[in-house]
Amino acid sequence: MELFEAIETRRSVRKYLAEPVPPVVIEKAISAALLAPNSSNLQPWEVYHVSSPDRKAALIAAAFDQSGAATAAELFVFVARADTWRRNRALVLEELGKRGEIPKQQLDYYTKFVPLFYSHGFLNIVGILKKIAFSLVGLFRPVPRGPFSGSAVKGVLSKTVALACQNFMLAITAQGYSSLPMEGFDECRVKKILFLGGESAVVMMIAVGKEDPAGIYGPRLRLDPKLFVFEV
Ligand SMILES: Cc1cc2nc3c(=O)[nH]c(=O)nc-3n(C[C@H](O)[C@H](O)[C@H](O)COP(=O)(O)O)c2cc1C
Repeated sequence: MELFEAIETRRSVRKYLAEPVPPVVIEKAISAALLAPNSSNLQPWEVYHVSSPDRKAALIAAAFDQSGAATAAELFVFVARADTWRRNRALVLEELGKRGEIPKQQLDYYTKFVPLFYSHGFLNIVGILKKIAFSLVGLFRPVPRGPFSGSAVKGVLSKTVALACQNFMLAITAQGYSSLPMEGFDECRVKKILFLGGESAVVMMIAVGKEDPAGIYGPRLRLDPKLFVFEV
């Protein structure tokens, strides 16, 4: 299926047939997810394929027993991690080092800018100081306006993870299966089920399976693009 066909065909499917999804379909979709553009190439995502029956049941309950989750053959949880950047930075620099000398600008970016971006300090003291400093300098020239707190970092990283989610869902569609993105879940419970700490944000739960035609609740509905698209 070509890209535009996949984009047009993908629908949120809320009921699935009792049919398995071949592992190769899942592997390809996960590979596509991990090719998404991402903030500073620090790949702050984690993808949990929840297959243990107990955990799956707990996850469905945490998602308020939504039929999309309850009938899906496969369930995935896409997570943003604000605490993996040091490890991933070291690994990225190691890979870049294997390709030759790392340009100073790139090295500075990873060793100076990235820590400034991710660090907010005990009781957010560094974050508050950053906000004051950037606000003052910002009176005279363009400056980054955040993130200045742990939760703001998670917000930024969630953009990246949402892009991975979309790659994943389009790759599922392109292979003849369907999906449902979900934010309707109790995040505290989902984190507990997956043993995730405070430095993580659950971005989306995604159901995957073979579509039951009754799982599409109506024709696609989009509003007039004139409401959203501007030539300026
Ligand atoms: C971030 C996000 C969270 C969503 N959460 C839910 C959800 O919890 N339950 C659900 O049934 N649909 C959920 N949806 C699906 C939307 O309702 C759906 O995408 C929208 O109605 C448009 O329909 P379409 O995807 O078929 O084009 C979610 C979609 C997104 C992008």
